[in-house]
Amino acid sequence: MTATEPGNREWTERYAGALMNTFGPPKTVLVRGEGAHVWDADGREYVDLLGGIAVNALGHGHPRLVAAVTGQLQTLGHISNFFASGPQITLAERLVNLLGTEARVFFTNSGAEANEAAFKLTRRTGRTRIVATEGSFHGRTMGALALTSKPAYREPFEPLPGDVVFVPYGDTAALEAAVDRDTAAILVEPVQGEAGVIVPPRDYLPTAQRIAHENGALLWLDEIQTGVGRTGTWFAHQNPALVDAPVTPDIVTLAKGLAGGIPIGACLATHGAGKLFDPGNHGTTFGGNPVAAAAALAVLDVIVEEDLLAHATAQGAALKAAAATDPRVVETRGEGLLVGLTLAEPKAAEVVTAAQDAGFLLNAATPERVRMAPPLNLADADVAAFAAAWPAILDHANDSAGVTA
Ligand SMILES: Cc1ncc(COP(=O)(O)O)c(C=O)c1O
Repeated sequence: MTATEPGNREWTERYAGALMNTFGPPKTVLVRGEGAHVWDADGREYVDLLGGIAVNALGHGHPRLVAAVTGQLQTLGHISNFFASGPQITLAERLVNLLGTEARVFFTNSGAEANEAAFKLTRRTGRTRIVATEGSFHGRTMGALALTSKPAYREPFEPLPGDVVFVPYGDTAALEAAVDRDTAAILVEPVQGEAGVIVPPRDYLPTAQRIAHENGALLWLDEIQTGVGRTGTWFAHQNPALVDAPVTPDIVTLAKGLAGGIPIGACLATHGAGKLFDPGNHGTTFGGNPVAAAAALAVLDVIVEEDLLAHATAQGAALKAAAATDPRVVETRGEGLLVGLTLAEPKAAEVVTAAQDAGFLLNAATPERVRMAPPLNLADADVAAFAAAWPAILDHANDSAGVTA
C-alpha cells in the first residue's frame, strides 16, 4: 500500500456501498497473487490454501496461463457461436479424451450454468425426475438451486423447477428405493465439497451407475469441485481411492479449476446423451470463448508437464498429516488437494480467522469442518509453513473472544 492507494479499510467501506450484500463483508481485499501466495491492500502476505475455492489450479499468475490468455486475446478474443474456434474444439477433444469415453461437450461460463445445461439435457430423455442427494450443492441459478438441497438457499426463491427428490448421500439403499423408470437422472457429487468434504463409500458411484442403468436413467456426476486433478486424478470418479470399480458416467459437469481462474464451465455427455440437444435447444454468448478455452488448455498442459496429479495426491496427504498431528483435529477427509479437517469442537470459523491472522487462507465449510483446496502446484515450503503454524492457529482460535472452551 502506498500513501495514495486505498487500504483494506477504505476498500471494504467502498465495497459495502457499491456491491450487493450477497457474501457478507469480505474477509480482506486482495490486490496481488503469485504462486500460492496473495497480498492484501494493506500489504499483508498470505499462503492461499483455499485457491479461490478449488479454482486457482496453477496458483496465481502462472506464466503459462498468462501467456495463453494474453496470446489468445491478441489473436482472437471472442467470436459468436455462429462460428467456431480452434481452442474450443481442441479443448472439447481433450476433455473427451481424459474422460476416456465417446462424449460431446457444451461449454459454459460457470458451474451453475454447466449444471443448467445438464439439467435441460436430462429433460430431453422424456423423463423429468432427478434423484439428487441431501447436502448437495450444485449452484445458485434457479435450475441449479432446484438441485441443491440446503433449505436456507432454496426457500427464499421457491417455487423452483420441480420433480427433484433428495436422498441421503452415500446411501445406496436409498437410491435403490428412489430410482425408478420415471427417473431421468441420478445426480451426485463424487465428494460433497460444500457440505464439508464428505467422501461416500467406495461402492457408491459404481452402485449408483448400476441402479441408473437398470432403470434406463442417466448417471450425472457433478465434478465441478472435484474435477480437473483436484483429487489427484483427472476426474474424481476415476480415483481408485474413491471408487472400487470403474465408473462411466453419462453426464459430467465441470467448472472451477478447469481454466485456473478464467471463467469456464463444461457439460460432458456420453453414451448418446451427448446427442440429446438439437440446434436451438440451448445456447450461451460466452461459453466456449477462445480465451477461456486457451486458458483451460494451458491448465491441462501444465498439469501433465508438472506432474500435478501425483503432486496433488502427495501434498494433500502431507497437509492432512500435518493437521492431524494436533489432537484438536479428530479426523481428516478428502483426496488429493480437496481436504476437510474435522475439529473436536465447532470452531471452524474461529480457526479460519486465526489462520488469516497468521497468514493462511482457509475456509469453514461447516461449523466443525475446515476446508482446504489450494493450488495443485502447492510448494513443499508452503506445506511446511502451514505445519509449523497450525498448533498456534488452533491455540488462537480457542482463545478468541466469545468462544466457549
Ligand atoms: C459441486 C459444485 N457444483 C456447482 C457449483 C456452482 O459453481 P459456480 O459457483 O461456478 O456456479 C459449485 C460451487 O461451489 C460446486 O462446488
